[in-house]
Amino acid sequence: MTNKMWGGRFAAEPSEIMEEINASIGFDQRLAQQDIAGSRAHVEMLAAKGIISKSDCGKIKRGLAQIQSEISDGAFTFSRALEDIHMNIEQRLKDVAGDAAGRLHTARSRNDQTVTDLRLYVRDCVDQLDGQLHGLQAALARKAAEHGDVIMPGFTHLQTAQPVTFGHHLLAYVEMLARDRSRLSDARKRMNQCPLGAAALAGTSFPIDRKMTARALGFDAPCRNSLDAVADRDFVLETLAAASICAVHLSRFAEEIVLWMTPQFNFIRLSDKFTTGSSIMPQKRNPDAAELVRAKPGRIVGSLTALLMVMKGLPMTYSKDMQEDKEQTFDALDNLSLAIAAMTGMVDDLEPNTDQMLAAAARGFSTATDLADWLVRVLGMPFREAHHVTGSLVAMAEAKGVDLPELALSDMQSVEKRITGDVYSVLGVEASVKSRRSFGGTAPANVRREAKRWLKLLGG
Ligand code: ARG
Repeated sequence: MTNKMWGGRFAAEPSEIMEEINASIGFDQRLAQQDIAGSRAHVEMLAAKGIISKSDCGKIKRGLAQIQSEISDGAFTFSRALEDIHMNIEQRLKDVAGDAAGRLHTARSRNDQTVTDLRLYVRDCVDQLDGQLHGLQAALARKAAEHGDVIMPGFTHLQTAQPVTFGHHLLAYVEMLARDRSRLSDARKRMNQCPLGAAALAGTSFPIDRKMTARALGFDAPCRNSLDAVADRDFVLETLAAASICAVHLSRFAEEIVLWMTPQFNFIRLSDKFTTGSSIMPQKRNPDAAELVRAKPGRIVGSLTALLMVMKGLPMTYSKDMQEDKEQTFDALDNLSLAIAAMTGMVDDLEPNTDQMLAAAARGFSTATDLADWLVRVLGMPFREAHHVTGSLVAMAEAKGVDLPELALSDMQSVEKRITGDVYSVLGVEASVKSRRSFGGTAPANVRREAKRWLKLLGG
């Protein structure tokens, strides 16, 4: 038997290898619910416009409802010979709805159908990711509120730079995730136009109402150009680009969790829930979940790159190349969702070792900038000169094996005789963070205020 859908033109069966390379049902069955929703909207519009009869519309809709429950019950048999989800459903519709089924594909093509399904799917994913990112932001803001005045070293070049608070550090990620959510929401706005009714590429001679189908599927409007409607995959690329940046943010935090968990840092504890032991080394507690989140940009950025390469140089309009969009999209969005879930769990779970953090913050001359600022403020020194004097004092402390607050006043005065005992008031890490009250700075009062503001914004 030749292909049921285009048997009129074809006399022979495809080769086995043709079927294998051509079929997408192995992965696009994931679009079943979107495909049925699209068909329902299409058939209702066809009936409303008098293109098919009300009675055929009723039969098709009842058939689609039956197929929908067969699929969700796992009772549907997917066939590779039927290539993809669109033809699997249409063929089954013939069995359950009879001849009426043949009218469903009027004024439609798989080209507009497949891209409508994918837009609906990606839109749902974006909404779900947004909810998850909201949850992660809330978890971070709660921790930040709890630990607004826990002092830790702030790093540049992974070298101790200046003391900061743990809450401030966590709120930095809340900001990054806010931008991720805003990028996803931008992508969603542009994505929310309906390709259905573009048909194969040129539109159709039937008097369809594209606004009606767009509205029924929750789109803001129909896509304005039929060629663009079937050829465009920007909505996937944009979503994967936003997903890639987000995955990179999560990966950076994951790397910090890995570092902070080492005995050398020992800044945080993670419970058994998010760590594993070693099969040979009994002392180990490995941050596997964090390591896997750290790795996820590999495949997510990989998916973006793969799809950019698929799209590059494709002439208008649809080409089968574009079938390759789906596995990349599914894999990237599944993995981002999993990474966010794991990260949220870890943030809820982690506890700072406040003594270790504080001790580390006090090491490494972390208040050297405060000393230089004191020279500027109290002695009226130009900052460049103050920097130089402070450098000599750090070298002296280093030679004596002490930290800045332990340097004797007489030693300091041997470098700059105008220094007074008041200088010690700025050399402690508490005083240092407390003084960073500039907008966006790390002072605990700022951090508590910001954490509260975020919690209010996030509704938790
Ligand atoms: N399975 C196809 C895809 O995912 C559906 C569109 C097929 N269209 C065509 N003209 N062969 O892209």
